[in-house]
Amino acid sequence: MSSYQEIFDRSINDKEGFWGEAAEAITWSKKWDKVLDDSNPPFYRWFVGGELNTCYNALDRHIESGRGDQDALIYDSPVTGTVKKFTYSELKDEVARAAGALVELGVTKGDTVIIYMPMVPEAVIAMLACARIGAIHSVVFGGFAPNELAIRIDDAKPKVIISASCGIEGKKVIEYKPLLDKAIELADSKPESCIILQRPQVNAPLTPGRDHDWVEAVKNAKPADCVMVKATDPLYILYTSGTTGIPKGIVRDNGGHAVALYWSMVNVYDVKPGEVYWAASDVGWVVGHSYIVYAPLLLGATTIVFEGKPIGTPDPGAFWRVISDHDVKVLFTAPTAFRAIKKEDPKGEYFKKYDLGAFKYLFLAGERTDPDTYHWASDLLKRPVIDHWWQTETGWAIAGNCLGIEPFPVKPGSPTKAVPGYEVTILDGDGKVLGPGEEGIVTVKTPLPPSCLPTLWNNDKRFRESYMDPFPGYYFTGDGGYIDEDGYVFIMGRVDDVINVAGHRLSTGAMEEVIATNPAVAECAVFGVEDGLKGQVPIGLIVLKAGETITEEELVPQLVQAIRSEIGAIACFKQAAIVKRLPKTRSGKVLRGTMSKIADSKSYSMPSTIDDPTTLGEIEEALKTIGYASK
Ligand code: COA
Ligand code: AMP
Repeated sequence: MSSYQEIFDRSINDKEGFWGEAAEAITWSKKWDKVLDDSNPPFYRWFVGGELNTCYNALDRHIESGRGDQDALIYDSPVTGTVKKFTYSELKDEVARAAGALVELGVTKGDTVIIYMPMVPEAVIAMLACARIGAIHSVVFGGFAPNELAIRIDDAKPKVIISASCGIEGKKVIEYKPLLDKAIELADSKPESCIILQRPQVNAPLTPGRDHDWVEAVKNAKPADCVMVKATDPLYILYTSGTTGIPKGIVRDNGGHAVALYWSMVNVYDVKPGEVYWAASDVGWVVGHSYIVYAPLLLGATTIVFEGKPIGTPDPGAFWRVISDHDVKVLFTAPTAFRAIKKEDPKGEYFKKYDLGAFKYLFLAGERTDPDTYHWASDLLKRPVIDHWWQTETGWAIAGNCLGIEPFPVKPGSPTKAVPGYEVTILDGDGKVLGPGEEGIVTVKTPLPPSCLPTLWNNDKRFRESYMDPFPGYYFTGDGGYIDEDGYVFIMGRVDDVINVAGHRLSTGAMEEVIATNPAVAECAVFGVEDGLKGQVPIGLIVLKAGETITEEELVPQLVQAIRSEIGAIACFKQAAIVKRLPKTRSGKVLRGTMSKIADSKSYSMPSTIDDPTTLGEIEEALKTIGYASK
């Protein structure tokens, strides 16, 4: 067996040989002409000329090779008291009929479909149904408010939207249909049809002529066959937060995605066909796309759709119960989930109640695994706890401990080494390559490996500007960090205005845009501060218009409510303070990073370009009034 270093070196020095071999694990209806087309940088394309169907690779071929009776998907929903299992044959039948329903509504190859659903099996079925007929899905996280959904509708222009009557968040039932109706009203681009899954908790009124009941639509539909698509055709668009209020439509292609995800299951996660793999995330995030839906099914493993939370559904033993009931080998979740469990069950009493014989590894991502959480989890589980770093843009790990190749000793706080395919490089602000231990901007030398975004949906220009132009020849990740003398990568946080709240990626710019619409506000800054449970939460500093007399007590609840209704409760925006002015550079850039450090009582160097250093003292005083900057 080759060592990590040999495999890594080959992935960089012989890209076509390396990924061409990996692609043999996927079933193609037409083999590619070229593994990597690098003729038009920075737009690289993988497996050009190849044709395949991702749904065929995720379902049909496993049935043909004798896995039809194996569980493909287990739906475990403590919030509804349901456990339902689908074999590969059953899942394929459901998907083919859902695909047939889409065909009857006029959806064909290349059309877009938005999916706005809670964690129910129909969400996965809807995604795979789109893939089956070559339609491009765009899943929108159920926690986003109508305005955010409307922005995505206008960008993706879906022919059909698939949704549900409600989601269940712990003990709360959240009606989705009014949110959907409002979003469609706000959007300029109207879908021709909607398919609504009526859940027993809420019966949503349907709009005649536009809305169709899921059960009725699927029951009578003619099962659809797989439609072959080009390797370079989009499988999905997934919107993610950028630095402005307009999210970025990350495009995922079919061929490179299938190849990389399959490879990752074997080499990163050490999973074999037939084993049970559980990503406790949501289909609305990239983790859900890659590791609830596509990767486990491409491999022929069993995946789990969990409709619950790490705590409160019903207790902090929920994860251990699921692992024990379904013989889970690998759990993948966000560190915040472990911090939540630790808070409620610090001694791990619930953990001890379950037989976890099949459980081998815990993988964490979405935010940095802080050393405290790492030690608590690894002392409790007595199993490898693996931090790995990735982004919506890549769809799979950029750095991680590849357990299927050669496990390395863990250094707490580091996701270990670059995953084969990724030439992670640290640069300074001028693009100079930095050496071991030197902290700078984390980039990846292009071309990026398969599955990574080929561009942004209908926006090559923004793709170049956001990722490729800042450091030509390198992909700009938006993260800061360093690589130590042993090649271990350390990701220390974003260098842009994106923050990470409970593993959810959010734009402070988007929140500022909402706050700025309040008539009392002249200008504002939103930035992330440390939070013991969620990693980071946003706070705001507000400058009032001249002559405005509104008090903080009156203003802040208005701003909190505006962000809940315009972006969604997941933004977790709860605190703000009024200040006389914001600290800025001489060219007018607001110094959010410096304010974050002051709020967290961390040391900072006075920015040489600051316009008036005395503002920082005022900011510190204001932050103290809302409980920050006082350590
Ligand atoms: N639909 C509607 N609302 C949602 C939602 C959804 N799918 N998901 C979250 N929300 C709401 C919550 O109900 C909450 O609303 P509230 O302010 O009215 O209470 C708000 O958004 C914040 O949610 P969350 O950040 O999840 O906080 P929480 O206190 O409910 O739970 C954790 C905290 C740590 C238990 C939870 O964040 C968690 O399980 N995190 C795991 C992280 C994860 O899966 N990340 C995905 C990337 S791997
Ligand atoms: P998302 O696109 O929502 O997956 O968020 C990606 C961002 O989350 C990255 O750019 C990082 O800032 C952060 N992130 C994800 N995983 C990790 C990790 N393991 N360590 C540090 N940061 C992480």
